[in-house]
Order: sequence, then C-alpha cells, then structure tokens
Amino acid sequence: MIAPSVLAADFANLQRDIEMVNSTEASWLHIDIMDGVFVPNISFGLPVLKAIKKYAKIPLDVHLMITQPERYIKEFKNSGADILTVHIEASVHLHRTIQKIRSEGMLAGVALNPHTPVESLKEVLNDLDVICLMSVNPGFGGQSFIPGTYDKIKSLKKMIKKAGSSAKIEIDGGVNIQNASKLKTAGADILVAGNAIFKSDDPVNMVSMLKKA
Ligand code: DX5
Ligand code: ZN
Repeated sequence: MIAPSVLAADFANLQRDIEMVNSTEASWLHIDIMDGVFVPNISFGLPVLKAIKKYAKIPLDVHLMITQPERYIKEFKNSGADILTVHIEASVHLHRTIQKIRSEGMLAGVALNPHTPVESLKEVLNDLDVICLMSVNPGFGGQSFIPGTYDKIKSLKKMIKKAGSSAKIEIDGGVNIQNASKLKTAGADILVAGNAIFKSDDPVNMVSMLKKA
C-alpha cells in the first residue's frame, strides 16, 4: 500500500492536493503532526486535520510526533483519524495508549525512531495494527533514507510471524522509486512517501509506480 504524506503538499492548495491524491491508487493519506518538543519542528494540528477529512476519500493515517500522545487520542478521533500512530519513545504507558486508541475505534500504530530496536515491541506485537519504522529521524520531509532500515524490516517481519501478529509494517522517510522495491522485498507492507510523490512531475503516475515497484 502507498500512503502519500501531506507534509510535502502545497498547504496553500490543500484541497487541490488532497483531491489529486483521491484520484491515485493510494490506500491511506499520511498526516504528520509535530509539536516542536518531541521533534524539532511544528507542522499543524487538529483544525487542519478536520479540514483534510472533508475532502479525503481514503483513510487518514495520523502519525503523532508529540510527547504524551495519550492526552489527545479522543480529539484525533473526533477530528478524523482512522489510524493513529504514536511514538514508543513518547509514551511511557504504551500498552494502555494502544488500548485507548483501539477502544476509540481506530487502528493502532506505534512508530520507532531509527535508533530504537524492533525487539522493544515484543510484548505488544499482538495488540498492534501498524508498526511504523522511521527510516529518517522524524521532524522533516525530504531527508535521505537510512539503509539500516532494511535489516530492521527483516527482523521485525520474523518477530511478527513468530508471534502470529497481523501487524503491518510501514516505512516512513526518504522512500522513493529507487528503494521501494527493495523495501517490499524486505517485508514492508505500507510505504509512506512525501517528496517522492508531491514533488514529482506526475504524482498520480508516481503513486502507481511505487505501488508496482
Ligand atoms: C518525517 C515524517 C514523514 C515525512 C516523509 O518526520 O514522518 O512522514 O513526511 O517525507 P519524505 O517522504 O519526503 O521523506
Ligand atoms: Zn510520518
């Protein structure tokens, strides 16, 4: 599945860009929420998510790069999130946070920074719908892919199989047409791509190409 990241869209023409994504083969729309504390950048918040929801025809995959994300689970549900992903590094009571996300009727995701080992998810594998492996340090679009991600995907895939979990592996950061096929071979299920899609000359075709890669 391909999930275009709105962070690379033209914020002055959000409706146009979301409608463009509606016309592609994308499965989810990826939305990056940054608080300027967990990551050194501020993106946008709940009112913008609500505005996106009005036009998007595919599920909203909301990636929270905020500290103590458990404080805002209901608010994100009410603003249109379908999948809600929190960072393992930002939520002390991760198990409870995951339960709360699911009890609000959303799919639950956990994201791991590049330095966080996949083994840290062992005890919650069967409670998760999505595991987002960051392939850049979160905070900005347009960074270079970290090659160590391939081995992380392979290890995580093995852990998921062994646990009998149905969690999907999502890769976020520096994904492009050069690495998409290798990521899929390694075991990735969902590819998030911002710049590769929105800054391409033909974003609709780029989504198809990434999907076929
Ligand atoms: C980074 C964000 C990513 C970002 C990816 O902190 O989580 O979703 O938008 O952008 P690209 O694909 O341009 O690296
Ligand atoms: Zn993201």
